[in-house]
Amino acid sequence: MKIAVSGKGGVGKTTITANLIYLFVKNGYDVFAVDADPDASLGLTLGMDPEKLASLVPLVEMKEVIEEKSGKGAFYSLNPDVEDVIDNYSLQKGKIKFLIMGGIKQGGSACYCRENSFLNAVLNSLLLDKKEVVFLDMSAGIEHLTRGTSQGVDLMLVVTEPTRNGVKTAKVVQKLARDLGIGKVKIIGNKIRREEEEDFIRQSFSEADIIGFLPYQDGIWEKSMEENPAAFGEGDLLTGVEEVYQEIVKEAI
Ligand SMILES: Nc1ncnc2c1ncn2[C@@H]1O[C@H](COP(=O)(O)OP(=O)(O)OP(=O)(O)O)[C@@H](O)[C@H]1O
Ligand SMILES: [Mg+2]
Repeated sequence: MKIAVSGKGGVGKTTITANLIYLFVKNGYDVFAVDADPDASLGLTLGMDPEKLASLVPLVEMKEVIEEKSGKGAFYSLNPDVEDVIDNYSLQKGKIKFLIMGGIKQGGSACYCRENSFLNAVLNSLLLDKKEVVFLDMSAGIEHLTRGTSQGVDLMLVVTEPTRNGVKTAKVVQKLARDLGIGKVKIIGNKIRREEEEDFIRQSFSEADIIGFLPYQDGIWEKSMEENPAAFGEGDLLTGVEEVYQEIVKEAI
C-alpha cells in the first residue's frame, strides 16, 4: 500500500501522516515513512531521536552515493540500483523506517539531472518494489512524482483546512495528481471546528472525493510548541482518525 499526502502548507499533512503511520504500525504493518517535503518535520513528529535525525543526510545530498550509483561522467545511469541505499540510509525505529528525500533540484544554469534521476530511482524502488506500507509526506508541489513513479501510488490524500486558500490548493493538487495518472485521489478535511466548516469543504468537492473529516483539537495545537515532542503515542491521535484509517485501508488495498 503506497500512500502520498499533499496539500497547502500548514494544513496538517505531517500530523495526519504521523497519525496514520501510528495506526498502520499498531495494526501490524511495517512502514516506510518518507519525508518528501523540503521543510522536513515528519521524523520529529514521529518521535524519532532528534540527534539521529540531525545526522540523517537527505538523499539528494548524498553526493558520493549518487556518484557511485549513477556514475561520475557525462553519462549516468538512469536506473541506479538503489535498493541497498534505501535500506542503509534510513533511520529505523521499531517497525518504521524513515528517509528524508530533500528537494528536487531545479533551476539556473546548473544541471541536477544526476541528483534528480537518483531520487526518481529511489522513489521507483520504494513505490514499485517494496512490500511495506509506504507514506510520502509531500509539499503541495508533488514535484517528486513523475508519470513513472506515480504509477506506484495507490492513494493520494489531499489535506485541506476549511479556508478558501486551502481548498484552492487542494483542487490544484487533485488535478496534478489525476494528470499524473494516480487513480485514487481523496480529500481529508482537517481542523474542523463547526458544521459550517465541514459544509464549506463538502460544497467544494464531490461527495465521492472526500474520505473524511478531522476536528480541530486544542491539545494537538498546543503540543506543537514543544521543541522535541516525545515518541508519538496513543494520546497524540486525532479524534476520529481511526475511521479515516479504516476508509484508507479499504481504498488502498
Ligand atoms: N486537527 C488539528 N487540530 C489542531 N491542530 C492541528 C490539527 N492538525 C494539525 N494541527 C497543527 O497545525 C500545525 C501544522 O500541522 P502540520 O505540521 O502537520 O502541517 P503540514 O501541512 O505538514 O505543514 P507544512 O506544510 O509546514 O509541512 C501544527 O502545529 C499541528 O500541530
Ligand atoms: Mg509537514
